[in-house]
Amino acid sequence: MLRRTFLPLPLAGLALGQAPRPQARIKVDPERRIGQVHPHVFGNFAEHLGRCIYGGMFEEGSPLADANGFRKDVLAAAREMGVTILRWPGGNFVSGYNWKDGIGPRERRPVRPEHAWGALESNRFGTDEFLRYCEVGGFEPYICINAGLGSINEAREWVEYCNEGRDTHWARERRKNGREKPWGVKYWGLGNEIDGPWQLGHKDATDYNKFALEAAKAMKRTDNSISLIASGSSNFGGDWVTWNRVTLETLRNEIDYISLHTYIGNRENNFERFLAAQADIDERIEVCAGQIRAVQSRMPRPRPIYISFDEWNVWYRARGSSEHATGATALEEKYNYEDALAMGMFFNSFIRHADVVKMANLAQLVNVIAPIFTNPQGLYLQTIFFPIAEYAKQKDTVALDALVDSPTYSTNRRQGLKYLDVSVTMHEASKTLNLNVLNRSERQDIEARIDLVDARAASIEAWELNHSDLKTAHTFGDDRKVRPATRSLKVTPELRHTFPKHSLTILKVKLA
Ligand code: AHR
Repeated sequence: MLRRTFLPLPLAGLALGQAPRPQARIKVDPERRIGQVHPHVFGNFAEHLGRCIYGGMFEEGSPLADANGFRKDVLAAAREMGVTILRWPGGNFVSGYNWKDGIGPRERRPVRPEHAWGALESNRFGTDEFLRYCEVGGFEPYICINAGLGSINEAREWVEYCNEGRDTHWARERRKNGREKPWGVKYWGLGNEIDGPWQLGHKDATDYNKFALEAAKAMKRTDNSISLIASGSSNFGGDWVTWNRVTLETLRNEIDYISLHTYIGNRENNFERFLAAQADIDERIEVCAGQIRAVQSRMPRPRPIYISFDEWNVWYRARGSSEHATGATALEEKYNYEDALAMGMFFNSFIRHADVVKMANLAQLVNVIAPIFTNPQGLYLQTIFFPIAEYAKQKDTVALDALVDSPTYSTNRRQGLKYLDVSVTMHEASKTLNLNVLNRSERQDIEARIDLVDARAASIEAWELNHSDLKTAHTFGDDRKVRPATRSLKVTPELRHTFPKHSLTILKVKLA
């Protein structure tokens, strides 16, 4: 059951019989800084799953591919979306993956059964292809090791293959495969979702941490400059708090990040409840941030540890018993307009926690729960593409702590959810504020007074995503329905703006 509360209204200016418009207030003080919005918050993820790699990023012989076999149209769309860092090769896939299968001459690479998603893995795209893809695309690479069925030594050798500059066995192998200088991979994940019973080689917290601690030691002795991401909670039905506590306590001297994963879905076909997931995301981040602080409080010289939210998205249709849950078309989720609004909700949460969330990777890049969708002839952009690309423009900003007074609603689990879900950033060089405002009300436009503390607006541009049909979706040849509109707003002494029902608005306020 949903309960709505709207604030009392000033009645002046209302014609008789006119429905009062709910009021809100957003107060922004440029001195109330949360932290830098790290560029890696606009990261992405590519897994050997369905058509993400093969038929998405990589299609040998396609007229749309370059000499490497990389789909040029997909690379262009990924760049347009502002991808900064790319996680690979999984996901669940990595827990059964042997990286050595994916190097050397392609025709000699083994085809293997793949047990995470029930496919065959040709291994034609491997470490060198991935790192070359990142180089061509301008993405920072992030490799996740196999902490499921894999060994510590395989992980150590993978670092050597990628990063060793001296004349060693695995550096020689890399050179033989055409890459003279080290790839210099800085970001390494210590496994994927090892807390999940669905994971190949799933472990309990004690066993995972024994493995991860020794893997971290061996990998860092190979290259001490790498940054490590611990496999944090993904199984929120389980004892996720204990998992993170044990992991942080055990790995506190080795890791730079702990990961969180969250997928959401509108299973009940209830828009406002769907977007109430913000409270879960905020809570997971805040609980984990508190756990990081608790561990650090007992260290004489605590090393910074951040959250890497390295899998997130809407995903609920192409899973479970769906025919798209596994196989050739696995996870080909078709996104609609309300899913696009959920992108704003995730980013708002990451930005509000910019002091601790320093990396986030949308799952995934293309075809598999993705904003880009291909066939052999071309691609179309799913509805979720547009907010992702727009938020990514805020990669060089500082997050500000805004005061938000908004009408609220409640669900069975949560009270006092503000209809206006807000985050604010400031681009210091251009003295521009970005007010990211998601109106989660399905039925009510909400007018807000915007108070700027010790600052004055010189000009305001509004970027707005809106559509009358929450369920409208894109397809090939028809991907222009959900597109943002931009316009200049008049600057008045008192700033007010009406945020339409079920819309996402970014007000770009240039300060005088
Ligand atoms: O992104 C799809 C899957 O979701 C990943 O393989 C796994 O890590 C998560 O459960």
